[in-house]
Amino acid sequence: TAIRREDYSPPAWEVPQIALDFALDPADTRVRAALTVTRSSPHDMPLVLDGAGQMPLSVKVDGVAVNDWRIEGEQLVVPLTGDHHVVETEVSIAPESNTQLMGLYASGGNLCTQCEAEGFRRITWFPDRPDVLSVYRVRMTADRRRYPVLLANGDPVASGENDDGTHWAEWHDPFPKPSYLFALVAGDLAVNASTFTTMSGREVRLGIWVRAADLAKTDHALHALKLSMAWDERVYGREYDLDVFNIVAVDDFNFGAMENKGLNIFNSRYILADPDTATDYDYDAVAAVVAHEYFHNWSGNRITCRDWFQLSLKEGFTVYRDQCFSADQGSAAVKRIEDVRGLRASQFPEDSGPLAHPVRPESYIEISNFYTATIYNKGAELIRMMATMLGPVRFRAATDLYFDRFDGTAATCEDFVACMEEAGGIDLSQFRLWYSQAGTPRVSAGLSHEPGGGRAELRLAQHVPATPGQSVKQPMLLPLKVRLFGAETGRPLTDERLILLDQVAETITFESVTERPVLSINRGFSAPIVVESDRTAEDLAFLSAHDDDPFARYEAMQQLMLDTLVAGTIHGEVKGQAVIDAVTRTLEAEGLELAFLAEAVLLPSENFIGDQLVTVDPDAIHAARETLRTQLGRALLPTWRRLYAELAQGRYVYSPEAKGRRRLRNVALGYIAASGAEDAAALAFAQFEAADNMTDRQAALTTLVSSDAPEREDALAHFHARYAGNGLVLDKWFQTQALSSRSDTGAVVERLAQHPDFTLANPNRARALLGAFGVNQRAFNAADGSGYRFLAEQLIALDRLNPQTAAKLLPPLGRWRRFDAKRSGLMRAELVRIVETPGLSKDLFEQASKSLD
Ligand code: ARG
Ligand code: ZN
Repeated sequence: TAIRREDYSPPAWEVPQIALDFALDPADTRVRAALTVTRSSPHDMPLVLDGAGQMPLSVKVDGVAVNDWRIEGEQLVVPLTGDHHVVETEVSIAPESNTQLMGLYASGGNLCTQCEAEGFRRITWFPDRPDVLSVYRVRMTADRRRYPVLLANGDPVASGENDDGTHWAEWHDPFPKPSYLFALVAGDLAVNASTFTTMSGREVRLGIWVRAADLAKTDHALHALKLSMAWDERVYGREYDLDVFNIVAVDDFNFGAMENKGLNIFNSRYILADPDTATDYDYDAVAAVVAHEYFHNWSGNRITCRDWFQLSLKEGFTVYRDQCFSADQGSAAVKRIEDVRGLRASQFPEDSGPLAHPVRPESYIEISNFYTATIYNKGAELIRMMATMLGPVRFRAATDLYFDRFDGTAATCEDFVACMEEAGGIDLSQFRLWYSQAGTPRVSAGLSHEPGGGRAELRLAQHVPATPGQSVKQPMLLPLKVRLFGAETGRPLTDERLILLDQVAETITFESVTERPVLSINRGFSAPIVVESDRTAEDLAFLSAHDDDPFARYEAMQQLMLDTLVAGTIHGEVKGQAVIDAVTRTLEAEGLELAFLAEAVLLPSENFIGDQLVTVDPDAIHAARETLRTQLGRALLPTWRRLYAELAQGRYVYSPEAKGRRRLRNVALGYIAASGAEDAAALAFAQFEAADNMTDRQAALTTLVSSDAPEREDALAHFHARYAGNGLVLDKWFQTQALSSRSDTGAVVERLAQHPDFTLANPNRARALLGAFGVNQRAFNAADGSGYRFLAEQLIALDRLNPQTAAKLLPPLGRWRRFDAKRSGLMRAELVRIVETPGLSKDLFEQASKSLD
């Protein structure tokens, strides 16, 4: 049954305080909870508490055992007569058999929690909704040797030892918070400790807790944490508010990390990094996720969400904040390119598929399914558009107003927009459609110019495609940054203009346009839309060489490549000369960052090409893309070889400059291999063996894994042996093979699922193999349906252990409308099989049934 946004009503009972007492044990943890409850308004409703599975061992009201409580569905109903009471419950839970990894569970011998969104109800009885804010006091008792470290939210208050080999600790969090932010950790952990002095001069004790053997891999995360704390003070005026800030890394985790107040818990892949095991991409991701979770302390914890329909209030804003933080650490242009590529790879398909939903959804069956690219990444684009329209000064005034007005409360997306409007002095009524209308707007742009007359006209028209449940759409407010360039001189003909397109169609006039203009539009990707322009290959090549906005310059090249590849897919012949010329010119241009060059010369992915076509033909797309890669490899072979030689570095260093060199050099290696050069495999294998860092080693492995070279098996075997026992690196071993462009990848992946190192119990491992396979368009969509069958079987098995992770991996099967009748039928059959599986979770049921329609 679906939960609907319009059914929201405020809580009948508040819980200003809760005291929790945990007797921790993997098989039988006793949880005693004492809730101070207050009737929130005159009414005669009983107290209703959420639980999941557990029976209460006892219920007391004001210290006296009662038996007039009842269980209704998954809720405990306790009749209460007065307006203030203390309600106590006790339950028993078994963290060691918790395979869902929600609530209290065991990972690597330690105990930890995950409560967002609805995991707290698996720990104790409570009104498990984000608008009930309580002050938490937590006491834990556990075996001293097995669990020497006991952590919870807030500040440590007291600790001690008992005679029976156990010890205890008490923590107190003075900031009222919703239950989803509760956390505790008990384990055998070592700490990388440091301090940070806030802008008002308070000293905060920082700690990153990991298993002792991993301690050496935590410096990068600790450094990123300090940078984040300073950045939030400088850019948003936000200071940290407790005396301690702890982060714990665990290996078994359903997603990236969790912003629990004062005690963030992380998937270890977003904490642990050293040059031998983490790529440059991993280093960036560690810093971005550390920043993201830290920034939640204000955008999420101090101000939380009224209900889960408002999830993007904290996630969209916090993603925007972490994107800006990362942009400030290195190349802002490359960061924007990466973010847009991510949006197109994960959010655009969501918006055009069966699971499309607005940034503020209207209903859900299982809230875990709404931790999506739409809520996170499109949500971030909404904040970015408002920031663009307000400008930096008014945007800062608006966020100040928001933090000030809603501190300590559970707010809504509307509250945020109202602050933008009030402090920004603009009318956002039409802009609000971005929160309620799903689908990616499409804008067509046509530029005309009267040669003698000096006037140019830009005709813009918008269209928002229908999405499930929303057949009719209204025109939206789209902020489009636009500039014109002169085709002859290459110089800008106008300033950059911010056009606010708010009609279905509009014509914009530019005066004094003295030569033929070329249109640069949606610069910086100012709106998350698809632009359909009538720009020719010549115009695109021109912009890729002359545009002064680095994103627009990248975009022009991508569009040129995409047009070439789409035509090549349809006609079976790839005319690559324009792309070759443009890539040549870009590589010869002065003053471009190496990391930018690497991005600019990479071809769009097979999936993205597929997204442009009415019917996806995975083999034809693959063939066209490989052909263009080969053409680029051959035509520029001397250049790739020169770059490969010149960009070689001495000993590994981690800096934006060094990262750019590695990135471009590895792109060059890829093109040398694509050219078919005879020495390519030897070159890659030599790099694989000599590399003193994972970036170069993995890049070489990736090249070899897609080849038929004899070095392929050697490299895979060496890699596996070298990193035996290192789970995060073994994930790369599985993932690289699942992403291979070889024709036997489907069979290889099926074999890997039987490998002794493969397990569905660890989400990272499941994602490394199944998630990567699902986005390998050609392998997954094998014409005989074997890829579909394999994924469905794995998801049904995974669902029994971990429904959330299973549901996250389903979307590739929902693309069936995009393929030919035979593939569609095979995919649908697998979706039907999933939906009809007895005992299916609501998580997987919701995703599979919505995908069938
Ligand atoms: N709030 C966390 C973050 O974005 C993620 C929690 C995800 N929860 C879930 N049920 N998928 O930082
Ligand atoms: Zn988040």
